[in-house]
Amino acid sequence: MPVIFRKLLPDEFGGYQDHLVRLSGRDRVSRFHAGTADESIERHCQRLRWPETRLIGCFIDGVLRGAVELQSFQRPGAAIGAELAVSVEDAYQGHGIGTELVRRALLVARNRWIRGVGMLSLANNFRMREIGRRYGGRSNLDDGSIETVYRLSRPDARSFAEEMADDGVALVFLGLNRWQRSIRTPRHDMPAFAAMRPATAMAGTGVAAFGA
Ligand SMILES: CC(C)(COP(=O)(O)OP(=O)(O)OC[C@H]1O[C@@H](n2cnc3c(N)ncnc32)[C@H](O)[C@@H]1OP(=O)(O)O)[C@@H](O)C(=O)NCCC(=O)NCCS
Repeated sequence: MPVIFRKLLPDEFGGYQDHLVRLSGRDRVSRFHAGTADESIERHCQRLRWPETRLIGCFIDGVLRGAVELQSFQRPGAAIGAELAVSVEDAYQGHGIGTELVRRALLVARNRWIRGVGMLSLANNFRMREIGRRYGGRSNLDDGSIETVYRLSRPDARSFAEEMADDGVALVFLGLNRWQRSIRTPRHDMPAFAAMRPATAMAGTGVAAFGA
């Protein structure tokens, strides 16, 4: 099963809505705390604008199964801040995807000179509490919710290089995926390409392997 973590392009935000709609009722409550009907999710997604909103996704077999939404904002006279929210579909939870998405979101935020990132979750969300702890967030319990705040260091050559490495791997796979899709629907004058299956070429690269 190829698993790819990468940023979503602005024209892929529709796929994010499809992912959120696939969340179970319980997970929708955990993710949004309120407004969990399909229509509310649709309205939420329609309001998203790049570059204030950055989405990083986890694609499994080409389908978006997990995502982190990073919303940046700037209040007058204050440093740029951001909020993040993460979601992983039920069947894929508990395999480290949420942890990796948050790591990537914090790296992207740091490299945009964002100094503080907030994350809101329900108090009984043990996985989010673990993720908060793992990356050094400071958590405050308030009326059934936990707000975790991450204080980020300034970016440096290493953090930029780390993000470039993540993007480089993702670009290679994005290119391969699009090429693979194009050969699955071959033009009639290119029959030879239809027989080529690059999926085998992806196996064993060691990049973000998941399951079998
Ligand atoms: C919360 C959520 C994003 C976590 O994603 P995930 O991929 O399932 O989480 P991970 O597998 O990365 O696990 C996160 C932590 O919980 C721990 N964990 C996972 N499964 C566990 C279990 N069954 N029991 C105890 N701890 C568990 C992991 O060890 C990890 O901690 P670590 O980093 O110290 O190892 C996901 O469950 C989800 O989408 N829930 C619904 C939406 C939601 O709650 N969003 C958060 C509000 S913004």
